[in-house]
Amino acid sequence: MKRTHHCNELRPAHIGQTVTLSGWVHSRRDLGGLIFIDIRDREGRTQTVFDPSDLTKELFERAASLRSECVVSITGKVRARPAGTNNIKIPTGEVEVGVSALEVLNMAEVLPFPVDDPEIANKVNEELRLKYRYLDLRRPEMARNLKVRSKVAIATRSYMDEQGFLEVETPTLFKSTPEGAREFLVPNRREPGTFYALPQSPQQFKQILMVAGVEKYFQLARCYRDEDLRADRQPEFTQIDLEMSFIDREDIYALIEGLLKRVWKIALNIDVPTPFKRITFEEALNRWGIDKPDMRFAMELADFTDEFRASTFKVFSGTIANGGVVKALNAKGLAGATQGQIETMTESAKSFGAKGLAFIKVEKSSSTGVPPVSSQSTLAGETHGQDARATTVEWKSPIVKFFSEAEKAALTKKLNIEEGDLILFAADQWLNACEILGKIRLYCAEVLKGQGKLVIPADQFNFLWVIEFPLLGFDREQNRWYSSHHPFTAPVREDIPLLKTDPKKVRGQHYDVVVNGVELGGGSIRIHQPDVQKTIFEELLAIPPEETKLRFGYMLDAFKYGAPPHGGIALGFDRLIAILCGTPSIRDVIAFPKTAKGTCLMTDSPSQVSPKQLRDLYIEVKVKKPETPATPAK
Ligand code: AMO
Ligand code: AMP
Repeated sequence: MKRTHHCNELRPAHIGQTVTLSGWVHSRRDLGGLIFIDIRDREGRTQTVFDPSDLTKELFERAASLRSECVVSITGKVRARPAGTNNIKIPTGEVEVGVSALEVLNMAEVLPFPVDDPEIANKVNEELRLKYRYLDLRRPEMARNLKVRSKVAIATRSYMDEQGFLEVETPTLFKSTPEGAREFLVPNRREPGTFYALPQSPQQFKQILMVAGVEKYFQLARCYRDEDLRADRQPEFTQIDLEMSFIDREDIYALIEGLLKRVWKIALNIDVPTPFKRITFEEALNRWGIDKPDMRFAMELADFTDEFRASTFKVFSGTIANGGVVKALNAKGLAGATQGQIETMTESAKSFGAKGLAFIKVEKSSSTGVPPVSSQSTLAGETHGQDARATTVEWKSPIVKFFSEAEKAALTKKLNIEEGDLILFAADQWLNACEILGKIRLYCAEVLKGQGKLVIPADQFNFLWVIEFPLLGFDREQNRWYSSHHPFTAPVREDIPLLKTDPKKVRGQHYDVVVNGVELGGGSIRIHQPDVQKTIFEELLAIPPEETKLRFGYMLDAFKYGAPPHGGIALGFDRLIAILCGTPSIRDVIAFPKTAKGTCLMTDSPSQVSPKQLRDLYIEVKVKKPETPATPAK
């Protein structure tokens, strides 16, 4: 019995045809002496009907014995469903197949969780889904994700080919050259004590391919990073990685905008407007408190450093005197925030080292006769006679008593304060103050979404480039500079003289592409002059010359023999697919992902190896992690 159609294909036009379908028993219902079996394959499902008057007793009994997820082929005639029984939820819902032959290809045991319930992902524990991933992937939602992934991979390859790129594979047994995250090491049996490292990205190889004259390289590259995992981070993940010679930043922007336009059209049939908006790192921090702003909603940060410079509220004026800033955020509609929500936000501020989080709840005045602590209309100078009571609002906050009328008026004006608002403040050094409120802004948006006060349509995509990142950051604990992107990033040309005088002011030719608050990708124009690269390594990053030679010598050597100016970018492929599929977790778009602890529950890896394997690798496990103590008997 050879399949003639997939289970999503049959329509009224097929009525009268004899067809063969193969797939899994999605569901079985026994009704009025008939057996209804929905057969499901990768593409969809179709209702089949077993009627005892058309079938041998043996065949009918076999149908009656079928369980969910048995594998079958059936042959039968397509017919219209009886009036009133159409299923408008599925494309084949107007027809059914009257079965004349059944072949049972395999039976299935009772599943650990059902796969026919679209709500299952919310109900079934994710660990169970990961342990039985082959069942999880049978769910139509997961099958769709894999399909989108495949389509986008193929569209990417053809787009890059059209643009003149060569697909080149680079090694995944690489050398240890820390690029940021911790690496996975692979012991070398041939020389005890030496190791390969799995690449965090093909960064060095792709730059060397430019020296090799490849000019335009791309790869769907597997990368490995041993870092703390989250919903948007896996220890192994895929990048759309590329590099080009003789180009500037504009070429990268245009290339990536074209790629994303193509991908959105193919995957979602959405026309993405280009060019994307561009904002500088400084503006992103100042207005949204983060270098990957989600601009689908407003709630921008405002600066009050000038207004509070001479304030009697020392928490603010003292911070400003120490070179800090005062920033505030108006979370409209959140005046009713619970104690727990305020505590969550305060804890978030404290995780940045702040002592607290000042806030004001703007609520209707509870008192009638007594004048309010302060009121919007009074501040705005618009109160007239009896209107005053009706429009009176009260600023509920322990700190308002320290504010002058001028300070209150400035807040009201800049933040457009109204009843129902929650005003939140951060007084700190610039970056910290921005980041504190940036985190809180996102938290408030989540709360407002939960309350239905903020609605973001699922098909809204906000793309932007974040540019002009600082080339270097300063690590106070280690008292040294580090590269904000990676050490191969070129400084903005006019900032080069500042490298020697004021490194923190140097901007890098680094760009990130952001969509809906997710960092989709990042890249830079690279340093292609070996002397500038050496200066960055040795003088700014303070890597001793011998170590530079050991770690990056081959690259500096390559650059001596005619390195063209070049630059590139890498997009997180898993993040891209997750956005297209509308899922918050990249685990949902990776066939066999790891858990947050880096384990694969299906294959039970990582696992122990035999003493012989360890001996062959000259490896001795000296300290064993203590066993988790058994729960004491009650
Ligand atoms: P970067 O480190 O910014 O740049 O990585 C580029 C993109 O890869 C994705 N990404 C991840 N996705 C899933 N899990 C992870 N653990 C993970 N880490 C990163 C992100 C990120 O934006 N070599 C440079 C690129 C270049 O300069 O050309 C690089 O790897 O979406
Ligand atoms: P204190 O004078 O320390 O009691 O602080 C007064 C108010 O300011 C409290 O509500 C604190 O939570 C808040 N606060 C303290 N430090 C900061 C800061 N760096 N930024 C914003 N608010 C703060």
